[in-house]
Amino acid sequence: MGLTWTEWLSTGVEWQDEQHKELFGKINRLMGLIEGKSEWKDLADILRFLDIYISSHFRNEESAMYKLRYPESFSHKAQHELFKRLVANLKDRFERAEGRDIRIFASELQKLLTDWLYGHIAQEDKRLGSFLQAHGH
Ligand SMILES: [Fe+2]
Repeated sequence: MGLTWTEWLSTGVEWQDEQHKELFGKINRLMGLIEGKSEWKDLADILRFLDIYISSHFRNEESAMYKLRYPESFSHKAQHELFKRLVANLKDRFERAEGRDIRIFASELQKLLTDWLYGHIAQEDKRLGSFLQAHGH
């Protein structure tokens, strides 16, 4: 069973929500990989998506923070950097482990993204969203 997007996860800023929903879709996709027949290529696709997604989505949030001098920019960016390192580390291990059970990586990545969803998106990003809204975004 997949996760369902709820308004509770909404930051109130449309572009932020749209981008977060994309990530949400990948979490559900990973669940499918864990439960069903999964191929190496499927996970490689998701990791490739994450590379592009992370750099563009974080850049969007960070430039909005800097432009409006968001007071929590520093700690917010530090969380982005940590998440980037965690994903890069998993990707690195994945690339060197071809032939191993893909479900192990899929469930590790799914956990990482789910923790991110509840630990960052539902907290820091919502706070940032309120700030952006208060400043006319
Ligand atoms: Fe963020």
